[in-house]
Amino acid sequence: MSIKKLMMVISLSLLTLPVLQAQNFQYVGAAKCKVCHNSPAKGAQYKIWEASKHAHAMESLKGADAKNPKCLKCHSTYYEVSPNLRGGITANEGVSCESCHGPGSAYKSYAIMKNREKAMAKGLLMPDEKTCTKCHNSESPNFKGFDYKTYLAKIAHPIPK
Ligand code: HEC
Ligand code: HEC
Ligand code: HEC
Ligand code: HEC
Repeated sequence: MSIKKLMMVISLSLLTLPVLQAQNFQYVGAAKCKVCHNSPAKGAQYKIWEASKHAHAMESLKGADAKNPKCLKCHSTYYEVSPNLRGGITANEGVSCESCHGPGSAYKSYAIMKNREKAMAKGLLMPDEKTCTKCHNSESPNFKGFDYKTYLAKIAHPIPK
């Protein structure tokens, strides 16, 4: 193999590496997060999400729309991700934790979660505006505009200091 060809093979494999790793992370579903993120002392993130429109996004799709892939991709984490990554997540949980925080199969253990750096290396995402605008955009037939600060305040679920 020529040096040039070898360099190409190496750079191609470097490009595909993160993709392959990301595919190992499975979507586990909000019930798995609830175990550790539902006590009032720690901020009850599950309860707050459960009461939010995100958790009930599937209820907005009526009739044929409940099976329309064009609607499902924004109204359900389950349908947003490829079938081989649906570890334990269910369709009816709507826009679930992992749409914003990344697939949890590898970061959800206590030893990993308690360390942000380790958790992020195992797929945890700390969301920003771009996370929201993959769904909150004019492709949505009911788009009402999107102001990050205002919308973030409506779904806030902090860990109390
Ligand atoms: C075994 C318990 C456990 C499970 C299960 C768990 N977490 Fe955590 N999580 C923790 C702990 C511990 C922390 C560190 C903060 C703290 O002490 O409350 C944390 C922190 C976080 C943070 C904040 C990270 C930071 O550095 O600010 C996010 C976001 C998070 N978890 C999301 C999730 C999601 C989403 C799931 C489900 C896929 C999940 N967690 C499942 C225990 C858990
Ligand atoms: C996977 C797609 C998706 C992502 C990512 C997403 N959202 Fe949403 N969001 C929705 C859908 C769908 C609804 C409407 C749910 C319903 O009522 O059926 C919604 C509704 C909301 C609402 C309620 C709006 C109202 O009319 O009361 C707020 C607030 C919101 N989202 C904030 C955010 C923020 C902030 C982010 C990013 C941190 C975010 N969303 C990320 C899909 C998403
Ligand atoms: C690009 C992502 C996206 C797509 C595609 C999408 N939605 Fe939504 N949908 C949203 C978001 C985000 C909201 C929240 C409204 C807002 O605040 O802009 C929403 C809200 C809604 C609502 C609540 C309306 C309201 O006034 O609060 C209904 C009903 C709805 N969508 C139905 C549908 C149907 C039916 C389809 C398919 C034809 C669809 N959506 C496709 C993202 C999407
Ligand atoms: C629509 C997107 C979205 C969903 C759904 C969502 N989160 Fe978050 N989460 C965020 C954002 C945005 C932040 C704040 C990030 C920051 O402060 O930079 C956050 C922060 C957190 C934190 C850290 C709070 C802190 O004070 O450090 C935890 C823990 C957490 N989320 C857990 C969860 C769990 C568990 C679920 C599901 C039950 C969930 N989140 C669902 C977007 C989301």
